[in-house]
Amino acid sequence: MKLKLRIWRQTNAADKGRMVTYDVDGISEDASFLEMLDVLNERLTVEGEEPIAFDHDCREGICGMCSLVINGQPHGPERNTTTCQLHMRKFKDGETIDVEPWRAKAFPVVKDLVVDRGAFDKIIESGGYISAPTGTAPDAHATPVPKADADKAFVAAECIGCGACVAACPNGSGSLFLSAKISHLGLLPQGQPERDSRVLNMVKTHDDLDFGGCTNTGECTVACPKGIPLEFIGRMNHDWLHASGK
Ligand code: SF4
Ligand code: FES
Repeated sequence: MKLKLRIWRQTNAADKGRMVTYDVDGISEDASFLEMLDVLNERLTVEGEEPIAFDHDCREGICGMCSLVINGQPHGPERNTTTCQLHMRKFKDGETIDVEPWRAKAFPVVKDLVVDRGAFDKIIESGGYISAPTGTAPDAHATPVPKADADKAFVAAECIGCGACVAACPNGSGSLFLSAKISHLGLLPQGQPERDSRVLNMVKTHDDLDFGGCTNTGECTVACPKGIPLEFIGRMNHDWLHASGK
């Protein structure tokens, strides 16, 4: 495949940044989007140019590190897919592709396509844990969990903390991520001791950072590579009201 890439280059946080055009050729349609960028970076390195900085780690859709806005869509054109699992066959030969970092006030650009998602860590630190002793692996069913709750907690636990929901939201809200993390623990018996303090503290931390509020646009769930449903935001709001009324 032959492609024209328009990629965001930004030297550091203080730099204004700009789109730079690169032509790439000989890309396999079976290559992943990140492998295509690797090919370009190898060429730039050989030519003595600074390679393009972008985040990645597992490259198998589980770590949440990859974070590119491709043709205006976080994680690109395919639903329920991370950037690392997006393949070039989803694009047309000869296509022009725009590649940008997450655009959100809470995620400042560090360099090129890399953003600082430390705000998510601060939210987790404020309540995304349990105090129940875990010790060695317990016997199966030692703590009975209703099947419906276990299934729902599992869906919430699929959130990989990538931040695409924030990048897609016109308000820059982190509500989908926040609600998934709160629900994941709040649905299980082990998560009950901190259920109230968790929702109050995590929502407060979210609101104190540079995230916007949720106005139910639903863009987050469309962009989410794990298909985290909006119902968790409703569940979080219910828990917050309940806890703050005590
Ligand atoms: S809710 Fe979805 S889009 Fe948001 S951080 Fe979690 S996995 Fe990523
Ligand atoms: S690199 Fe880990 S989810 Fe994409």
